[in-house]
Amino acid sequence: MTGTANANGAAVRFQRDGFLFPLTAMAPGEADSYRRRIDAFRAANPTGRPFREVVKSKSHLLCRAILEIVRRPGILDVVEDVLGPDILLWSTGLFLKEAHDPAYVSWHQDVRYWGLEPHDIVTAWLALTPATIESGAMRFVPGSHAGGLLEHLDTRAEHNMLARGQVVQEPVDEEAAVDVLLKPGQYSLHHGRLVHGSAPNRSPEPRYGVAIRYIAAHVRPTRTGDSALVVRGRDRHGHFGSDRIPSGDYEPWALELSAEVHKFASGH
Ligand code: NI
Repeated sequence: MTGTANANGAAVRFQRDGFLFPLTAMAPGEADSYRRRIDAFRAANPTGRPFREVVKSKSHLLCRAILEIVRRPGILDVVEDVLGPDILLWSTGLFLKEAHDPAYVSWHQDVRYWGLEPHDIVTAWLALTPATIESGAMRFVPGSHAGGLLEHLDTRAEHNMLARGQVVQEPVDEEAAVDVLLKPGQYSLHHGRLVHGSAPNRSPEPRYGVAIRYIAAHVRPTRTGDSALVVRGRDRHGHFGSDRIPSGDYEPWALELSAEVHKFASGH
């Protein structure tokens, strides 16, 4: 438990806006060393599948560097303030936009296709390189988590990084949207129903972000066979199977699971 006045203030802002940023997970130099480890992990990709797909879901089971990031106590302290003491890690995606990459993310709510109820779900999005307007930082629509689920249309548009190219059908108040500008080592936290998206990377450098999906232990999967990893507190509910903890990169069981998860195409 943290329970400081400052932390409680953060929880109140999170409830109101549906997000918090910028938060600091590590110094820029440490973020850069993670980025270099992930580059080495990428160079070793044995799957024959495009790297961007390999690391879209549950990448912490394939990559030790990402597993270290998702278990960092400083991040979990803030997540605990908004989700409570019992926290599972459901998935982790590495969002990589190459230099001058047309890839973008349309306006969407994360939980629309995830098959998880209730929506006590947050994403911590950690920048390993600068998230700027030029590099295609995320944009958040304040308060958009407060209603229910919105209708989405599956466009399957080229260059859309979402599995279905899904986009919110109701009008999005783009004027109100805020740019989530982050330095390497900083992160944002956003609610599972928050409407958000991001533009292409127009910068000459690649943009790396790790999206970490944390859920409260009482959340239930609506499909069978879903799994997660306890990262803080206890799981008194047992709604999920237990993900194994890898001791190295690209372990055979993790590759098998990763290919299975990919078939779900559960997306973003
Ligand atoms: Ni998203």
